[in-house]
Amino acid sequence: MALEVTALENIGVEVSGFDITRPIDNALAQELVDLWNEHAVLLFRNQQVTPENQIAFSRTFGDLAMHPLAATTSQEYPELFMLVNEPDKEKFMTARYHGENVVNKLDWHMDLHYTGKPNRGALLRAVVCAEEDGLTGFGDLAKAYDALDKETRVLIEEIDVTYAFSMQRRHMRFVDLEGYEPGPYSPKKPSDLNYPNFPEVVYPAVVTHPVTGRKVLEICEQFLERIVAPHLSGLSNDEAVDLLERLVEHTRKPEFHYFHRWQPGDMVLWDNWRAMHCATGTKPGVERVIHRTTISGDAALGRAADA
Ligand SMILES: [Fe+2]
Repeated sequence: MALEVTALENIGVEVSGFDITRPIDNALAQELVDLWNEHAVLLFRNQQVTPENQIAFSRTFGDLAMHPLAATTSQEYPELFMLVNEPDKEKFMTARYHGENVVNKLDWHMDLHYTGKPNRGALLRAVVCAEEDGLTGFGDLAKAYDALDKETRVLIEEIDVTYAFSMQRRHMRFVDLEGYEPGPYSPKKPSDLNYPNFPEVVYPAVVTHPVTGRKVLEICEQFLERIVAPHLSGLSNDEAVDLLERLVEHTRKPEFHYFHRWQPGDMVLWDNWRAMHCATGTKPGVERVIHRTTISGDAALGRAADA
């Protein structure tokens, strides 16, 4: 049975024409992996998915990683990471945007980017969907790189940038803070959520994708801090900040984005070495459950700043 592949908006494809409950032979597995590498985001709908076959299917794309937030991992299925909006926990994830309370809104990011070793990808399955809001956005940073003018491409080829993990959004230098107020229960430091103190990490501004060889603009707004030694590239410190602002603005262009509105049973797999993602969040009191599996990768794209 041939796969049916339909383009999503700007990044990714919807893939149908196979049955996830049946064994996936090598030829089909290769076809799916090739589609993932080519399009970065794969959407699957109307499959009969259990936790077991989500885990088995995810292994088609590589070894699975355990997420460092062990507290939210399923006891029964350690490879599954549960993203659950619960009324008693949501106050910690609530902030105000332009006067409205929003739960679990997340800026553009790549998962585990702040460790220097982002995972290769992840697969999300919608179990309980918000009736409105709760979208997940994906942004194609390979396409964003390709769309830069030649002068900028040459300039950033030799530039390194740093990322500094922080819990307080207002400490992030390149996110849009207009209309933002932290919530009264917003965490103030990593240990509030049992995180360690992650050291600052350094990435080349342009990373060559270890599998596909495509150039990826390694700029996303969350945790982005500064250009390393800008004078080595002939830039003043002010010009360095302007350049990062311009690059972040570039990644925010809708022409690189697809926002997925979830229906129960939807699964989305993305390439975390190429696509950034974000969450629009929901109003308070909205139930939402997502099951996530994480595909590990063996390449370190960044390094600790003091290494
Ligand atoms: Fe994420």
